[in-house]
Amino acid sequence: MTTPTNNYSFSDLFGTHQSVFREEDINQGEKVFTSSYTPHSIWHREEEMKALVSYFKSIITSPTTSSKKVILYGAVGTGKTVISHAFGNELTQFLARARNHGDPRFRYFHINCRKTKTPHLILTTVLRYLVSGFPLRGFSVDELLRMFTLLLYEQNLTVLLTLDEIDYLLPEERTDFLYSLSRLEESPILREEYGVKERLESRFNLLTITRDKNFRFYLDSSTASSLGRNYITFSPYTRYQLFDILASRAELGLREDCYNDEILDTIASLAEEKGDARFAIELLWKSAKLTDQEGERKISLETVRKAIVDVLPVERSLIDDLNTHQKLILLSIARLLSTCEQSSITTPQVKQEYQTVCEEASIRPRRQTQVWAYLRDLNRLGLIQQHVENRHLNGKSMGRISTIKIRDIPTEEIISSLKHLLVE
Ligand SMILES: Nc1ncnc2c1ncn2[C@@H]1O[C@H](COP(=O)(O)OP(=O)(O)OP(=O)(O)O)[C@@H](O)[C@H]1O
Ligand SMILES: [Mg+2]
Repeated sequence: MTTPTNNYSFSDLFGTHQSVFREEDINQGEKVFTSSYTPHSIWHREEEMKALVSYFKSIITSPTTSSKKVILYGAVGTGKTVISHAFGNELTQFLARARNHGDPRFRYFHINCRKTKTPHLILTTVLRYLVSGFPLRGFSVDELLRMFTLLLYEQNLTVLLTLDEIDYLLPEERTDFLYSLSRLEESPILREEYGVKERLESRFNLLTITRDKNFRFYLDSSTASSLGRNYITFSPYTRYQLFDILASRAELGLREDCYNDEILDTIASLAEEKGDARFAIELLWKSAKLTDQEGERKISLETVRKAIVDVLPVERSLIDDLNTHQKLILLSIARLLSTCEQSSITTPQVKQEYQTVCEEASIRPRRQTQVWAYLRDLNRLGLIQQHVENRHLNGKSMGRISTIKIRDIPTEEIISSLKHLLVE
């Protein structure tokens, strides 16, 4: 019997090659490139941090005299989540140090509406932090709101609640919920309970984070008047800003001799169009990973070019978190665009393709109004771009038509990540 010969040595595959990632410390290496990593240094967001501090200053100076509401707006990867977390943590520490006996205690809650998708779940989550063992079921949203407000008084608390990625709440629920939150301390029941006629103390502050620049305009006028006045815009990062963010991650995560400024600058310039720090960091990570896989010692420009093919300009979990019908609609759009050789398609075309896709998936299609609502969701999340155009033929107006594009994500990527939904 002959021993099979391999053209590789197993021990070489396993580990003799030194990784480009730093491994000396548990706070280094690949970990600093993951989305759950909290950076110690935050770059180029001093103005935004200053604006947050100035809007919420009253939580420090006179904690129960006014209730502040602020909206953060910015495109994908512009640092909204990382800055609000840092602000919440710093404020918590500051207030814990400065607290005198009898002062209200401060609590910061950061809720991601992509994961905690309903007002009911948001309030239950917060209440479970305040009251251990609080039941998951059994109360209406109104009851939960009332209990939450009462607890602020009973536990002598001031709270800052951040609703991150608010775009994920259903529009009809979102409007009512934000209205209720913006009027939390004006509840007549609460006044009765406390037997006070004058204005109640303000103990609740709200930070709302959105990617939708029209968010303010969807609010009804009374919610907008209390919520929409304090607005902070996060602009896309410039190439030089992305470079600094990349350099500080690289310093922590990569061996010094495995990359250089040219590599970082190339990645920064590739990410500049969108100004998206997440994309830039992921591209650096992917380039380092490929370098390791290829057994090389240094990241090369060629490897960066190869890596870019694998990095989606949107977070993959954005697609993973869609519901089945939103996914099927996105798949229909990607299939049409990949075959029609046009940059955009029309809404009726999508509707027709969606019927076919549902048949292939053995799923009953949703009604037209629901399909329109899902298309609006996909548009709001930035996965598609919807436009209304005036079409003309031979100089004659053909009326207004709604068109759909996918600009950022290769259609093949969408098809390959969603085709498992179809029955083979
Ligand atoms: N100014 C910064 N300094 C250091 N790292 C940053 C900075 N801004 C963003 N990052 C990093 O970039 C990534 C994306 O940032 P973040 O999650 O805050 O973006 P976002 O605006 O919340 O995006 P999305 O709209 O997709 O939720 C994270 O890994 C974050 O740590
Ligand atoms: Mg975010």
